Amino acid sequence: MAAAKIKLVIDADTGIDDALALLHACASPEAEILGVTTVSGNVDLQRATRNTRAVLALAGRGDIPVWPGCGRPILRDPEDASYVHGGSGLGQAELPEPPATDDNRHAVDQILALAKVHEGEVVLVPTGPLTNIAAAVTREPALVRWVKRVVLMGGSFQGGGNTTPAAEFNIWHDPEAARIVFHAFAQEGAAPLVAVGLDVTQKVLLLPEQIAALGRRIADTPRGPALARFFEDATRDYFDFIERRLGRRIFVMHDPLALAAALDPSLIETRRVAVDVETTGALTSGMTVADWRGVWRRKPNAEVAIGVNAEAMIGQFLERMERLAQGDILAREAG
Ligand code: BDR
Ligand code: CA
Repeated sequence: MAAAKIKLVIDADTGIDDALALLHACASPEAEILGVTTVSGNVDLQRATRNTRAVLALAGRGDIPVWPGCGRPILRDPEDASYVHGGSGLGQAELPEPPATDDNRHAVDQILALAKVHEGEVVLVPTGPLTNIAAAVTREPALVRWVKRVVLMGGSFQGGGNTTPAAEFNIWHDPEAARIVFHAFAQEGAAPLVAVGLDVTQKVLLLPEQIAALGRRIADTPRGPALARFFEDATRDYFDFIERRLGRRIFVMHDPLALAAALDPSLIETRRVAVDVETTGALTSGMTVADWRGVWRRKPNAEVAIGVNAEAMIGQFLERMERLAQGDILAREAG
């Protein structure tokens, strides 16, 4: 008997690396994507939703429903990351306008409905600020028991931030939401909350020459040319930005790592620890504080990534992009 598929709900603020995470999910035969919810973060909600639909269409999965959620953080003004992802959120990539939809259901309703209907089965993968997840768990605290696991990209647990010296973007953008989520998963009976932070994701790097070589390998496949153009156009300005900041041309696979680890937990090493989120610090707002020494004497509420098999992750990603380029192979597997 074929193994049951992993039921994914992805919550994204679709910028470039969220897009690569979505493509990774679409290319993964072991995943059943129940839907993608969107949130404001890298770009505003409308762009995040449009980008999500356009990327799913690029993967040949325009059938996957996309539900927009919260358009701003709980208490703060939204501040986008267009300096990283470009004004559109997808660098210089220009994807066809996705078809209009009349499905106007809200992300928070859908996260709750899917988690309840598929109780114990849904793996929720937030790759943006945690606003939608905080709203869902506030409305229905049992969500932490309904899901099978949450695997989020966010925070930095043994190192500094990328948006301030202390804070990583997803948590910094809506620290109140992040705090609600980490506290909710401290409840008795809560499913595992796996946090894949910046200090680990920044070990997983995609290089320009790997993108170029992938483009050559998929040039003659059904979806290859469109995918290759997307990779090149989406990452071009990002490489320039990172080179100015870090002196190297590298693409950091933040969100793809969280998504890949949701499907294959062996990619990361984790440690259970009590985590809280700073919301009031003048210099440290949005900082994730992990009590590695147990001085709080709180029960662990998170499984925090402390290591990664970066080579395996990049290998999986490139191999799956080759599969995705063979659109017909995926169609046969689905049938
Ligand atoms: C996170 O912030 C966003 O800019 C990326 O999409 C990723 O989710 C990295 O800090
Ligand atoms: Ca993201």
